[in-house]
Amino acid sequence: MRYRSCDNSTATNAPMNCLWRTDLEHYDLRMVPLYLCVTLAVVAVASGAPPKAGDVTKVALNSGTFMPIVGLGTSKVTDEREMEQTLDAALEAGYRHIDTATVYRNEHLIGKVLKRWLSEGKLKREDLFITTKLPLYAMRAADVPYFLNESLTKLQLDYVDMYLIHMPFAVKREAYSDGRFDDNGTDPTTDHLAIWKAMVAEKEAGRAKALGVSNFNETQIERIIKNSPVPPANLQVELHLYHQQKPLVAFCKKNNIAVTAYAPIGSPNAKWVVLSGRNLPDLFSLPEVKAIAQKHNKTTAEVLLRHTVQRGIIVIPKSSNPKRISQNIDIFDFALDDNDVATLDALDKGIDGKLFNMKGFAGAENHPEYPWPALRNTPQKA
Ligand SMILES: NC(=O)c1ccc[n+]([C@@H]2O[C@H](COP(=O)([O-])OP(=O)(O)OC[C@H]3O[C@@H](n4cnc5c(N)ncnc54)[C@H](OP(=O)(O)O)[C@@H]3O)[C@@H](O)[C@H]2O)c1
Ligand SMILES: *[C@@H]1O[C@H](CO)[C@@H](O)[C@H](O)[C@H]1NC(C)=O
Ligand SMILES: *[C@@H]1O[C@H](CO)[C@@H](O)[C@H](O)[C@H]1NC(C)=O
Ligand SMILES: *[C@@H]1O[C@H](CO)[C@@H](O)[C@H](O)[C@H]1NC(C)=O
Ligand SMILES: *[C@@H]1O[C@H](CO)[C@@H](O)[C@H](O)[C@H]1NC(C)=O
Repeated sequence: MRYRSCDNSTATNAPMNCLWRTDLEHYDLRMVPLYLCVTLAVVAVASGAPPKAGDVTKVALNSGTFMPIVGLGTSKVTDEREMEQTLDAALEAGYRHIDTATVYRNEHLIGKVLKRWLSEGKLKREDLFITTKLPLYAMRAADVPYFLNESLTKLQLDYVDMYLIHMPFAVKREAYSDGRFDDNGTDPTTDHLAIWKAMVAEKEAGRAKALGVSNFNETQIERIIKNSPVPPANLQVELHLYHQQKPLVAFCKKNNIAVTAYAPIGSPNAKWVVLSGRNLPDLFSLPEVKAIAQKHNKTTAEVLLRHTVQRGIIVIPKSSNPKRISQNIDIFDFALDDNDVATLDALDKGIDGKLFNMKGFAGAENHPEYPWPALRNTPQKA
């Protein structure tokens, strides 16, 4: 086990605080009950209040803030009633981290529910961790303050906890209208460094507490690190059992960038894209996953999420079903042992297990910043 340096200690006992912020790849499983107990203790010390049900482990960010390791994904929830029920269920189940994006077209619905919880005094702003993203049709430096402002207005917030560049590639502003992208194509003039500089200005102005990127590859992240005084605090990428992203996660650990897994249970209701020419079975149907779930008396979804969380990676499962919402955050009362982990690690299919290639944005693969060169010439769209 390894301790991180603790610069902005909030707890009195530095090693304890560091344990809370520990690199979970070096988790000693025999120590899990102790970790849980210490985590709760440190949360209590840090916040000055006893831990509440649903307090979950947080991941330390290089920005000095902390990100809850389980968050709620919200893409495709665009109905007001559904969003209300979803967020009420999630906040009641203990979620404090919500992932949205301008392109999900639901920030205004999320804002309405948050406003109610905040004004009723059931939550304080500092209890929440809200992530949103710069859309791929606004990939110019001058777009950043405008689009973040729009997001804040819709969310009814003064700041977001994390602002991400959604995609490394861009489509022209004119190619987007009313939730649809036409085939007018990509904007090849994308300048990541100029956009990042504008992002940094937003952080300095206090409108974003931390900054990050999504769907960027190692080369693209490295370039930002080398050219900006403010490194990304977070990388959000596709990551699940079939696509475990081991090299990219190692790169992020080395650079102190927290990783967030999107599609953490394999986006089961989206159809699998067969990049390898093989039809991959649904993650829920895998006998290895089922057996481990049975052994721990947990659901297959809980095992899939726990596997990723145990690597120190943040997960943002999407559900609009109250039962599944509470299931997906109920993953702190058990731990996978070394055998379970070895079995699950072995199911990684690397690039062949990748679900999203983003070719649904016409011409994405020909953009100079398309992040997955290996997928450039595969025919599938998703
Ligand atoms: N940055 C990016 O480019 C990007 C791309 C994709 C996704 N994301 C983010 O990541 C979030 C999650 O990804 P995702 O929505 O694609 O996939 P996911 O979270 O892996 O899977 C969501 C699907 O699984 C079902 N589900 C959830 N919990 C379940 C459980 N316990 N048992 C069985 N089924 C369950 C949900 O249906 P029900 O709602 O019916 O439960 C939903 O259809 C998104 O919502 C979004 O916030 C980001
Ligand atoms: C943000 O929006 C508000 C009102 O919605 C406006 O007054 C302000 O000038 C905007 N700021 C930027 C940077 O666009
Ligand atoms: C393409 O862009 C132009 C404006 O730049 C617009 O008039 C046209 O409808 C767009 N859509 C398609 C499919 O060409
Ligand atoms: C298994 O889990 C379910 C649901 O959490 C619970 O009701 C049941 O008592 C558990 N069974 C055992 C044997 O622990
Ligand atoms: C990242 O994407 C860029 C643009 O396509 C490419 O030049 C670079 O080789 C990619 N890096 C990795 C590690 O895939």
